[in-house]
Amino acid sequence: MKQFKRIGVLTSGGDAPGMNAAVRGVVRSAIAKGIEVLGIYHGYSGLIRGDIRPLSVRDVSNVINKGGTFLYSDRCPEFKTPEGQKQALANCEKFGIDGIVAIGGDGTFQGASVLSRLGVPTIGIPGTIDNDITSTDYSIGFDTAMNTVIDLVDKLRDTGESHARCNVVEVMGRGAGDIALQTAIASGATAAVIAEFHTDVDALLKKMENSRALGKRNFLVFVSEAMGSEFGPMLNKRINDEAKIDSRFVRVGHIVRGGNPSLADRVRASRMGVFAVDKLLEGKSDLVVCERLGNLVATDIRYALVLDRFYKGIATEEEMQSFTKEQLDSMRAHAKERADRMKELHDMAELISL
Ligand code: ADP
Ligand code: F6P
Repeated sequence: MKQFKRIGVLTSGGDAPGMNAAVRGVVRSAIAKGIEVLGIYHGYSGLIRGDIRPLSVRDVSNVINKGGTFLYSDRCPEFKTPEGQKQALANCEKFGIDGIVAIGGDGTFQGASVLSRLGVPTIGIPGTIDNDITSTDYSIGFDTAMNTVIDLVDKLRDTGESHARCNVVEVMGRGAGDIALQTAIASGATAAVIAEFHTDVDALLKKMENSRALGKRNFLVFVSEAMGSEFGPMLNKRINDEAKIDSRFVRVGHIVRGGNPSLADRVRASRMGVFAVDKLLEGKSDLVVCERLGNLVATDIRYALVLDRFYKGIATEEEMQSFTKEQLDSMRAHAKERADRMKELHDMAELISL
């Protein structure tokens, strides 16, 4: 088995509250096990440029409670090219990096897989507010982002009630309505319009008109970013024009990507960081750390990426063919379980929003 002397850690893609806690978990647990840790700054860009510095136990003091990522993040198209990858590999050799923990979303995992194939064992940790990594029940940052949304929307409700208004609230989630659905439930919203399910807008307007006639003053309607940037303003206009309810459109945007991580994200990130180091030291590579029913498991990155595509209905026959029957069965079961959970929440939200 490979002897580990020194590992690197990086954060990449969209930042997420809790990434610092994960880096701290990696650094502290590796050092406790006699392994040196190098911080790779600015994601894969830093690996290419050699922006790499040692991290001591004290370098990760006072970060567990901070949002953002002190290692900084980047989107690095150059790392998708053979030249960029060659340069990154040369720096792994130069700095004596025996393995890497890469914290980010699905793009970051594709990069991690490239490194693993090039001979640098790499383990991914899911860090994205969107919770759009199908193989894990939760990604780091999701819980904090949702808590930030409900804090903000509670304030909107106050003013909405005073003025008998509706607020149409668009929340982030590039390819997933998880944030919109769960924050809509937690905010007591009238509806969550997400790309995963069809919403009959005419019926929604009618329902709002009826509720208004029965005395309801404020309304909250959540829209997922995945509906497209035109959808929220269009729905807001129809609420004003057709349901005759005074309505304002609010795009919450990047505000929910910052802020102090919640307790759940700090604990989740710490556990995942420690688990990732354990996997590297066990000689594992090309895996992503996933949380399933409260337990941490390590999933093959390619399986996780194709599972995502299968869940979204965009996996090709060709990519599915490279998996065994057992793997395909498990993929189907997993995707169904997730879709069922989403549907149950969506139906429940509809039932109790009047
Ligand atoms: P996220 O990790 O949040 O999904 P991105 O999709 O922007 O964010 O990916 C983060 C980075 O991962 C990219 O900027 C790039 O450096 C790297 N990456 C993404 N896709 C690939 C790929 N196919 N091959 C190699 N590296 C990739
Ligand atoms: O993936 C996280 C996320 O915040 C998405 O919700 C959003 O669509 C996207 O990143 C925004 O990316 P950027 O930071 O490049 O504007």
